[in-house]
Amino acid sequence: MKIPLDRQAKQPIYLQIRDRIHHLIHTGHLPPNSQLPSIRALAQTTQVNKLTVIEAYSVLEADGLVQARQGAGYFITSGHLPSSATQRKEQSAVIAFGQHPQPDPPTATFNPAQQVILPTQDINDFPSIYSASLGSHNHPDYIDFGLGFPQPIALADLQRIARRAMKEAATFYHPGDPQGNLDLRRQIAQILLQQGLEITAENLIITNGSMQSLSLLTHQYLMPGDRVIVEAPTYHGMLSVFQQRQAQIIGIPMTADGMNLALLAQYLESHRPKLIYTISTLHNPTGITTSIEHRRRLLALAEEYSCSVIEDNAYEPLSFDTTPPPIKAFDQSGSVVYVGTFSKALMPGLRVGYMAVTGDERQAIVERKLLHDFHVSAASQAIVKEYLASGHYRRRLAQIKRMHRDRRDYMVQSLIRHFPPSATWTVPEGGTFLWIQLPNAITLQPLCHAAAKRKVLVGSGAAFFPKNQGYPALRLNFSLPPEKTEHGIRVLGNILHDMLGQL
Ligand SMILES: Cc1ncc(COP(=O)(O)O)c(C=O)c1O
Repeated sequence: MKIPLDRQAKQPIYLQIRDRIHHLIHTGHLPPNSQLPSIRALAQTTQVNKLTVIEAYSVLEADGLVQARQGAGYFITSGHLPSSATQRKEQSAVIAFGQHPQPDPPTATFNPAQQVILPTQDINDFPSIYSASLGSHNHPDYIDFGLGFPQPIALADLQRIARRAMKEAATFYHPGDPQGNLDLRRQIAQILLQQGLEITAENLIITNGSMQSLSLLTHQYLMPGDRVIVEAPTYHGMLSVFQQRQAQIIGIPMTADGMNLALLAQYLESHRPKLIYTISTLHNPTGITTSIEHRRRLLALAEEYSCSVIEDNAYEPLSFDTTPPPIKAFDQSGSVVYVGTFSKALMPGLRVGYMAVTGDERQAIVERKLLHDFHVSAASQAIVKEYLASGHYRRRLAQIKRMHRDRRDYMVQSLIRHFPPSATWTVPEGGTFLWIQLPNAITLQPLCHAAAKRKVLVGSGAAFFPKNQGYPALRLNFSLPPEKTEHGIRVLGNILHDMLGQL
């Protein structure tokens, strides 16, 4: 197969290959069930890296145009996408997955009134929340909306992939690179390129989950007493990390568009923080994804005040649609560190995350990592590598996203059926959570206790605010099976109606 490539073009090579094959399929030159050249053969004839061909085939697979058959290679599927899909213009390097038509998209009503939070004492207690969530796994008859992870799927795939990954077990006897396996870093660089972030493998550091990246960066950037800006609410694990470092946290309210930038500017000027921690895509807990404009303005403000930025993109792989390029993509000065993970898209137990560092501090962070634990488990890195190389990663993402979109819609419908009309919620375009703002009269502790008595566990919104300050809210995982969601939301709705009735 001849594929003309323009190596000067802005469009990445793997997308040029994808477009050409796309064209050949839809003009009938590649009929259903015909076989594509092997990855090695196409890499040779087109003079590109095998990873590039894998990327191209994986995208075609995620689009439903080709199918990998175990041990036999890639084949054109028998049922192509409708022609509208073929006319779709894909000028950007960012790919949307799992698209399916939405007859009546639910709308968000999130619009909290909120002050900046400046805690004076430590209250957030992530370690005990984490331990409590471990306990809930011993009660399978409970409905756990507090879970921070997607549901387990395709375990048989994992077992097969793990067996294949063990082919390189002999290398596990050697000390590993503290920065992480080079092939895996190259694969991650390819994934980031699709998100619009051009980064080299040299700038990537693989860590034990993204939590280790976040913790190492906190120690790199903050000394006890330094100020750090977070969104309020934000990921409660990070609030505890900052507290343990004895940093002074400033919680800037989260609006429906992201962190309130007017307040950010004001507090950069008045408090001169060292660091901003932001979750720009599918923010935890609200699920909000900020616009390009918001990203550019946040970066401009950070640069104006010489403030470093940690951009935590843990949930990006679970976005239903194309997301804007990360803040890091606009960063010319190296002031942003981008943090990602495979915990949400694959599984948390592998503990594989990473950070992209382009500033001068990279070597110091690598040394910090080395002194912590040498490197991430070679076995875990090998499994993730195999997932990415075999195309299973993309297939899995497409599957999760289809399921999540349906389950998100299901939860929204349940909320409309059972929650008081004064409750409002976000409708995220991906991830695993809905963020529900409850009427001000509701106190969370009695609500959570009453729900737990009826075997429904919820994430109390208080934990996501510095000093547990903020409006009453719940973070609910929408990825549970529909019957569990319906039952759990009905239980919560009844408790809320009772509580409001007693006022
Ligand atoms: C926003 C965010 N960042 C980072 C993490 C840490 O995840 P991991 O260490 O498993 O990559 C989590 C975990 O829930 C999270 O929600």
